[in-house]
Amino acid sequence: MSTVTVTFVQQNGEEKTFSDCSVGESLMNIGRDNEVEGILGDCGGSCSCGTCHVYVADEWQAAVGAADEIEEMTIEGVAPETMQPSSRLGCQIILTEAMDGLKVTVAPAEE
Ligand code: FES
Repeated sequence: MSTVTVTFVQQNGEEKTFSDCSVGESLMNIGRDNEVEGILGDCGGSCSCGTCHVYVADEWQAAVGAADEIEEMTIEGVAPETMQPSSRLGCQIILTEAMDGLKVTVAPAEE
């Protein structure tokens, strides 16, 4: 199976890069399994908790694609203060070969 490299920028500014991430894996699973700060995946990836909220850098928007309506509604519901146009839920980003080098910023936790 092919693998890609992804980088998370945590809220404390620290970058965590992981190579050997399997295509077909969710970005949330990568972050949670590697203890990226702020990626908790509380709902197990069912698009309902928002604890996998990330911002996708502009240059990666095309490869990653936009959130669908359900994902957008979840973000609006659980992260109204921190939602941005580049917001995505990591559990809904399934890695493809086109995402090799992907960089996302972990969104701050809602108060
Ligand atoms: S893990 Fe819960 S919304 Fe993504």
